[in-house]
Amino acid sequence: MTKANDVPVFTPRRMTVIGCGYLGAVHAAAMATLGHDVVGFDLDASKVELLSTGRTPFYEPGLDDLLSEALATGRLRFTTSYAEAAEFADVFFLCVGTPQKKDSNAADMTYVNGAIDTLAPLLTRPALVVGKSTVPVGTAEALRDRLVALSPAGVDVRLAWNPEFLREGFAVKDTLSPDRVVVGVDDPADADELAALYAPVLELGMPWVVVDLATAQLVKNAANAFLATKISFINAMAELCEATGADVVALADAIGHDARIGRRFLHAGLGFGGGCLPKDLRGFMARAEELGVDQALAFLSEVDDINKRRRLRAVEVTTDLLDGDVSGKRVAVLGAAFKPDSDDIRDSPALDVATLLHDLGAEVRVHDPKAMDKARETRPELTYIDDPVEACRDADVVLHLTEWAVFRELDPVKLGEVVKHKRILEGRNTLDSGAYVRAGWDFRALGRPIIKG
Ligand code: UGA
Repeated sequence: MTKANDVPVFTPRRMTVIGCGYLGAVHAAAMATLGHDVVGFDLDASKVELLSTGRTPFYEPGLDDLLSEALATGRLRFTTSYAEAAEFADVFFLCVGTPQKKDSNAADMTYVNGAIDTLAPLLTRPALVVGKSTVPVGTAEALRDRLVALSPAGVDVRLAWNPEFLREGFAVKDTLSPDRVVVGVDDPADADELAALYAPVLELGMPWVVVDLATAQLVKNAANAFLATKISFINAMAELCEATGADVVALADAIGHDARIGRRFLHAGLGFGGGCLPKDLRGFMARAEELGVDQALAFLSEVDDINKRRRLRAVEVTTDLLDGDVSGKRVAVLGAAFKPDSDDIRDSPALDVATLLHDLGAEVRVHDPKAMDKARETRPELTYIDDPVEACRDADVVLHLTEWAVFRELDPVKLGEVVKHKRILEGRNTLDSGAYVRAGWDFRALGRPIIKG
């Protein structure tokens, strides 16, 4: 690893970003902002149309502005034409999705393989293809060989791997000032080319990490596995706290003071969801099994199980708050997104708990500041209410399941006036428990002692 104190001269390039989901849309806009000429490619015509007019198909703070500014420079456009995308660029960023397969833990590589198979025959001059998608280790090497075999330009088409570490909700910041830039290359010249392309980012002093292809892919797998493990560790401690009357928040604070442990990503609660951590964890285990080293990652299976148990525990505590019977009870659910500042509901713990309670016969009324439309599409059986206080009207119990700032601002006294029973399950440990208790609520938090109002 080298600190980028010897930053190369910035070289503006003509580049195509293949796949304009969270990762690709942000990357395309950010690259144009840095000064590159960018074409964003996506197969989905409606997505391309939206992005072309400066609108995003998902909620991401700051992205609309970044996109509008980038479009205004004239250096960014979007297309559904592979031929146009291939003809335009010398650098191709691969940003397509790698969801979990429907019938196994493995990552579905259909989009990655499809992109390479379509792009390669169109590459008639030297090009650098840069993978950013999260893939099972070994994928890059196979794609490299495929590119060389299928491209008219042959060995002049090179492949590098440049994993992405952006978090939803912070995608713009994480792209323009990431905490490190990792590139996996076969040839150091490809790393130099990428350093020149990222020069404005590296000038901020970010660590610049050059490794081989296999390590670059594993860095991403390992980072997400570690983050998931950290969350499940504290949630396992929450189980211990629940069994002993201890307080997981105080415990996390105390162990987090040790700089070797650190307090970040030790927020106990409903656990992790989203389009990344759960499926990446499972994809990593599936790949380890293929490689014959499944024992090395056997612990990740427990990490996954601890995480799933939190959702069941939330249902259990809710049932307890409802005196053992959920059926026919009105349950207000605050939160549907998998985390705040996002409208992403993929593998959302909040929506999962809401659905489990609905299936048990509860009347579930959900509010989320941004994720209602997406939630309604996948879980039409739930009732969606536009206002958080109205969602709580006549509720037998309130569940706080996604920690949006607006939920912290609710006044427990006023909220207490609209509910039927002042009972709340705190699934994210961010509310002011004292204020709720003082307002007479029965306050149950995951991993914390029971407090009766
Ligand atoms: C995650 C990683 O944090 C990024 O570094 C990575 O680039 C990204 O996946 C990806 O692979 O693309 P993201 O899914 O946006 O990013 O969300 P996180 O902030 O990691 O949160 C994931 C889940 O963990 C959320 O459901 C969140 O509520 C939960 N979480 C997070 C906790 O339960 N406790 C914590 O302490 C932290």
